[in-house]
Amino acid sequence: MILSESNLAVREKLAKYSNTNPDDWFLCLKARYGMAASYKAIRSELGSGEVITPPYTCITSVNPIIVAGLKPIYADIDPQTLSITGADKLVSKRTRAIVVQHTLGIINPEIQNIGKICKDTGIMLVEDSAHCLARMALDHKGRPIADISVHSFGVEKVLQNTKFGGAIFVNPRLKERNPKLYEAITSRLINLPEVPRSLDLKIRAYRTQNAILQRVPNAMKSGFRNIMLKTKTFEPAVKPLEQAADQDIEYAITPFVSETILKNITSLPSDYRRREQNVEIYRKYLKNATYFHIVSNKKEPLLAFPVVFEDTHRATEAYNALASSGYFIRRWYSPLLYPGPVDNRYYSYNSKSCPVSEAIHPRILCLPTNLSTNDTKKIINILYPVQNHVENYRKTVENSLSSTKKTSKKA
Ligand SMILES: Cc1ncc(COP(=O)(O)O)c(C=O)c1O
Repeated sequence: MILSESNLAVREKLAKYSNTNPDDWFLCLKARYGMAASYKAIRSELGSGEVITPPYTCITSVNPIIVAGLKPIYADIDPQTLSITGADKLVSKRTRAIVVQHTLGIINPEIQNIGKICKDTGIMLVEDSAHCLARMALDHKGRPIADISVHSFGVEKVLQNTKFGGAIFVNPRLKERNPKLYEAITSRLINLPEVPRSLDLKIRAYRTQNAILQRVPNAMKSGFRNIMLKTKTFEPAVKPLEQAADQDIEYAITPFVSETILKNITSLPSDYRRREQNVEIYRKYLKNATYFHIVSNKKEPLLAFPVVFEDTHRATEAYNALASSGYFIRRWYSPLLYPGPVDNRYYSYNSKSCPVSEAIHPRILCLPTNLSTNDTKKIINILYPVQNHVENYRKTVENSLSSTKKTSKKA
């Protein structure tokens, strides 16, 4: 396959931002396709079996496991990282891979231990960095830990204007550990089929169609969207078949998509700086909130800043208050396996196995981190009326005291 110039240029940028080698990056039309190709190679080399993964995720990250003929086994999440914990207790002879998703860009420190288990047992470590483009967990020598690291340029990811595109980093050290598996994964990723013309056209039309959809009155939106889906003229972020444990065949990236990424990817360092600053603002002002608590405890450029409310009612109230002030807030991942399977049985998911995920998902709000400082503070003001009331009262008292002092001096 002949790769376009923009394909190489995107891989060079990813390598630069992650201090890796462009040859270890493989682009695909959507990250889910690179994941499916990788799981298919894992199954062909290691045999059928299980993949340990969180339910607190997008359904498109679990479908690739199922379409590859592997079975998802769900590990619950740690409320401090929103990422898997206790995976070691689920490991068996049938485990083929463990997925560590860095939810919202919080790098899960447990990946260090999971990495050791994987190294000792030959299980593949898959890192889902879909929320933290070009960021990966590193070992004590500063090298990527995971065997495979998944990155996305898709809808509602770090870069706003790309909408399509995925990138898979395959760790070159896998070549020494399991050369046949390394070869199977990389040759599948290099030889992904090209997209048909009809899909290429839909991808090119996506932004315009989406802009039109945003302008359609709310009452008509879903009808309009359904017509576009039925007439197969629209490529949505999650297709109906993807809520039933299926997905299309894995496609290669197109020149249009890699050129679009190239135009946008140079903004990544400044985008991350802004996100990191806003995370610091949220951490500073929201840390003593009464009705919710913050999750993040580190300076990181998060995709969104998670706050977990005491109960669903308060979370919904805060969501409505923010939405009515014009702020687009995500309730990731609610329902679990977002936007939810048509039937949990397709996914072998039993809600009893993941009590923390079940308890957290209806109570979480993910606050935007890519807005101006001013907007970030406005969001804080909406969320924190009690705190602000006290603060305003304190200022009023201080002002009146200082004006009383001035008047008494004059007298
Ligand atoms: C955690 C996670 N992993 C993987 C994916 C799949 O990414 P893509 O849309 O590029 O296929 C998503 C998509 O939303 C995701 O949220």
